Amino acid sequence: MFELRHRDAMGRLGTLEAGGRRMETPALLPVVSPKLQKIKLRELREMGFEGVITNSYLIHRDEGLREKALKGGVHRLLDYDGLVMTDSGSYQLYEYGRVEIGAREIVEFQDAIGTDIGVILDIPTPPDVTRERALAELEETLSRAQESVGVERRCLLAGTVQGSTHPDLREESARRMGSLGFDLHPIGGVVPLMEAYRFRDLADVILRSKLRLPPERPVHLFGCGHPMIFSFAAALGCDLFDSAAYALYAKDGRYMTPEGTLRLEEMYTLPCTCPVCSRYEAQELRAMDIGEREVELARHNLYASLQEIKRVRQAIHEGSLWALVEQRARSHPRLLEALTAALGYEVLERSDPVTKGSPFFYSGEESLQRPEVRRHFLRLRELDTQGRELVLLPEGRRSPGPASGKKYHICRASPVFGVVPQELEDVYPLGSYEGPSPPTGAQVGFMQAAVAAYAKGFGHVHTHSSLDLGIGETFEDPAGFGPGDVETKLRGMADYQFGRGAGRLLVRRIRVEWARTGRMRRLYSGKKLLATVRASDGFYVLGMEGAKRLLGLPAPRNRVVVDKEAGEFVGAGRNAFAKFVRAADPEIRPHQEVLVVDGDDSLLATGRALLNGPEMLAFRRGIAVRVRHGLRDEEGEAQGGEGDDDPG
Ligand code: GUN
Ligand code: ZN
Repeated sequence: MFELRHRDAMGRLGTLEAGGRRMETPALLPVVSPKLQKIKLRELREMGFEGVITNSYLIHRDEGLREKALKGGVHRLLDYDGLVMTDSGSYQLYEYGRVEIGAREIVEFQDAIGTDIGVILDIPTPPDVTRERALAELEETLSRAQESVGVERRCLLAGTVQGSTHPDLREESARRMGSLGFDLHPIGGVVPLMEAYRFRDLADVILRSKLRLPPERPVHLFGCGHPMIFSFAAALGCDLFDSAAYALYAKDGRYMTPEGTLRLEEMYTLPCTCPVCSRYEAQELRAMDIGEREVELARHNLYASLQEIKRVRQAIHEGSLWALVEQRARSHPRLLEALTAALGYEVLERSDPVTKGSPFFYSGEESLQRPEVRRHFLRLRELDTQGRELVLLPEGRRSPGPASGKKYHICRASPVFGVVPQELEDVYPLGSYEGPSPPTGAQVGFMQAAVAAYAKGFGHVHTHSSLDLGIGETFEDPAGFGPGDVETKLRGMADYQFGRGAGRLLVRRIRVEWARTGRMRRLYSGKKLLATVRASDGFYVLGMEGAKRLLGLPAPRNRVVVDKEAGEFVGAGRNAFAKFVRAADPEIRPHQEVLVVDGDDSLLATGRALLNGPEMLAFRRGIAVRVRHGLRDEEGEAQGGEGDDDPG
């Protein structure tokens, strides 16, 4: 019921299906009132909202609404044919301390009125309560969860993660909720954090929940309705948002923008081009009667929210979500500090694609902590530099210059990626990044630390005099370092991409085909294609012969094991679906080139992973590996498989 189509950071562009209705994610579900809704749902639908959320407890409590909903269903009650999610009354529990309904009863009621997604009656524990209280309420929520999943129903059911601000309880809550048969998981009890701009605590809550939740289930962030944090929450892996903020803010004369909130009374103009802001000037809105003004403001707030959701989707599609998050983090210091803290969590790197459609743009100090940079340092360790001398050049010295070879390992000191070996100059993201010139003081400090750490692995270090690093012997003229050779470069690229040892397996007795641009294009062994060097990101796209060679790396490296019944299709060049994956290298990252094998480790195909290793085992829907070549797909091989396809 959830299918992932594109991804960036931990953000996911996907499709959620419930009750025969489909919704694109990330999505915002406006909170609608069954009774006092001022903007009609038909209009919400026309604006582009594919789903809404309403409160089943309020419907249940009102006899008229209850009868109508039981008779005609909640969609008819709301006059809406999109996806309807219902909350359970937990919020009333939080506000008033009690509700007049049982945990099982409210789930049965939600199903009876035909909701598409129901929610259990969880206990929203506020932040900062004692561990004892948080634990006791969590146990109660889990016991209700257990009772609720047992209810026979047609709707999807959401099991809320609680645990207050106790990191271990959030993790435990996520792990135990995840072990029950829910379809998706809201993260609850976070509204007070957002109201107080405690985004760092919010990030901790989200990431600890994501760490333990099953990756194939969508995650909903309860009460998150400000466009300023959509990109951040999406980058941390939230798929759904809901909020009444558009209406509450409007009532209070507040105008939402992706950079923050403005007060209508203080506005000179309406800096937006939605239908409301195109039609009226700030002065005219202020002059309206209060009810009409509230509705127009709510409309604008909805347009502004939806626009930001769409921007997040576009950023995921093109691989620029971190850049968007970094921009938005400039809107408020609490958000910037939260981003910096969040980038310290290792879990981010596991979902971040290894290659993206957008170049890496440095936009501030926190760019240096992005997963792309951290991964680069991890991958550098895969290079085989034994017995070679390190030569350090300044950033500006790209080719032509000396090339790495058997004797010298030539690197640029980079104020964005620390160390860039000459072997990897064309490989993503090292081949296409942009930073300010001259670099900032923070970048120089970062570069110096990175170079010093890298240099420790070498017996001999030669440093260009302009670098002023205080490491090794200095030199003026790099011309003496060489000669370089193509094999060293090709092997370095293979080790960086597939792991240490890959270069020696893949690059032996080869013939290189060059492009007219002077770049390497294809590697052959005799007439057989080993790999294509993809022009867009410098990564190898394997031919079957190259893939066979990489089977020389010990299992499970780079491997996806599929079921017998799928083997035949995959061998014929069809995609490998997640439901047929039996095992996968846990180190596989999204968009990595992988080997598809059968249970005996015989090669079936090669292709691009769309999921990381653990996700391949968890997902039951969608493609795990987009296959380029299968065992019995000679035609594809003969064509050479350029593989510059859509990165999704
Ligand atoms: N709405 C806002 N926060 C919460 C929460 O923690 N649980 C539920 N069920 N609804 C919410
Ligand atoms: Zn507007």
